Amino acid sequence: MRYFDARVIENRSLGGGYFVLRLGGCESLTGSRPGQFVMLRGDWGRDPLLPRPLSLLSVAHEGRADLLVKVVGKGTALMERSPPGSRVSVLGPLGNGFPVPSADVADLLVAGGVGLPPLFMQAESAGRLGMANGSEMLYGARTSRDLVLLGEIRALGIALRLATEDGSLGRRGRVTDELEARLDHWRAAASPRRLRIMACGPREMLWAVGRIAQSCDIECYLSMEEQMACGIGVCLGCAVAARTRPYLYVCKHGPVFPAAEVMAYAPAASTSQSEGGAQ
Ligand SMILES: Cc1cc2nc3c(=O)[nH]c(=O)nc-3n(C[C@H](O)[C@H](O)[C@H](O)COP(=O)(O)OP(=O)(O)OC[C@H]3O[C@@H](n4cnc5c(N)ncnc54)[C@H](O)[C@@H]3O)c2cc1C
Ligand code: FES
Repeated sequence: MRYFDARVIENRSLGGGYFVLRLGGCESLTGSRPGQFVMLRGDWGRDPLLPRPLSLLSVAHEGRADLLVKVVGKGTALMERSPPGSRVSVLGPLGNGFPVPSADVADLLVAGGVGLPPLFMQAESAGRLGMANGSEMLYGARTSRDLVLLGEIRALGIALRLATEDGSLGRRGRVTDELEARLDHWRAAASPRRLRIMACGPREMLWAVGRIAQSCDIECYLSMEEQMACGIGVCLGCAVAARTRPYLYVCKHGPVFPAAEVMAYAPAASTSQSEGGAQ
């Protein structure tokens, strides 16, 4: 797989350091699965040198790809300032994705902060297959300013439940509190559909989701993040401990893992760190 040139078609600010980069020239991303990502580098000289990993938010047939980005450092700040017409180098689609939606399974998609893109794309894919009905997205962050693209999510036809740690929108608390409430609801409703959980967000949130899924014996998939240099399994910089072998490489074996594969190495539960999700 080689880097290809794409162009910024639109750079839409969502406020709070979030923006959606719409790229053209991404025909080779057609058929990408939710959870897959790209390595992206702008035409910005040598600093920063390395490309940055970004999940796909949406991919359209005519070579258009959308990315949701939050500014956290130099690379993402430069992306935020990329005007329409800017050239970017893109490698992808990389990694594996979430399992495909299925008619006999209800998916609970748990997004924390800027962990939204793979779950947005999963909901979009479920909608396209006519399977969004019955699945739910639970989306949490520190404050309402970190909950973005709400209109676009609702337009996908999936039920949306929000949580903020400061109570400014949706349930006050962590997105994992909402997950536990929804699981109680599902148990009480005795739905014949099997439940499945898919999550992406800050590491502490992922561990908490994995623990909840394990305690309820629910199939669960976690999309992990690590700093990445190559994105293709060469630099060995994105290793995480795993159950079935000493290390798994997030870029190559993930970023989506069955929770059982990585939960064996999750730290003991902590109540002090943020799980809601401003990544
Ligand atoms: C598979 C994958 C998918 C991702 N998808 C998205 C996405 O859709 N949208 C988005 O905004 N971001 C996403 N990220 C995170 C994004 O890659 C980083 O925020 C970005 O690389 C930071 O680059 P920077 O130059 O702006 O910041 P830097 O100056 O490189 O770093 C700023 C701070 O962020 C921390 N950091 C950098 N990269 C990561 C990382 N991967 N995980 C945890 N902390 C990190 C650094 O330690 C530092 O404290 C994803 C990461 C991975 C691995
Ligand atoms: S980023 Fe290089 S091996 Fe994963």
